[in-house]
Amino acid sequence: MVCLGNICRSPLAEGILRSKSPNIIIDSAGTAAYHVGNSPDNRSIEIAEKYNIDLTNQRARQFNSHDFNNFDKIYAMDSDNYSKIISLAKNQKERKKVDLILNETFPKQFRSVPDPYYGGEQGFENIFLLINNACDIIAKKYDKR
Ligand code: 4NP
Repeated sequence: MVCLGNICRSPLAEGILRSKSPNIIIDSAGTAAYHVGNSPDNRSIEIAEKYNIDLTNQRARQFNSHDFNNFDKIYAMDSDNYSKIISLAKNQKERKKVDLILNETFPKQFRSVPDPYYGGEQGFENIFLLINNACDIIAKKYDKR
């Protein structure tokens, strides 16, 4: 699960998917390094708590090229981060692992989870619901394997 800072959207995606699929190995990262080592944003922690999901043990890290080997699937939260990840991929096999998370909910529409960093609480409720709906589909897909 990859966003820009790894403090708002992707920690939520990591926590939400883990709550639905405890047997899948899930991690999150940011394409930028500004917040490396930081806890998730309090607004993400609070919206997750409302739905009984604990993000407080997460710490931000930067996405790196090893992630292409370590994971079968890489979900970007928005199109900027999708492009950044694709630019780091070395071959077609790596590029094929990458998708926008909302393409699970809205196939081939290339929609982005809006960046909530400068928005208010309403933004976090909105991104929680968007990510939650996508994770319902992802959990069903990978549980079948
Ligand atoms: P995220 O949100 O990518 O969902 O973690 C952001 C966090 C920090 C910044 C931007 C977006 N920032 O500019 O510091």
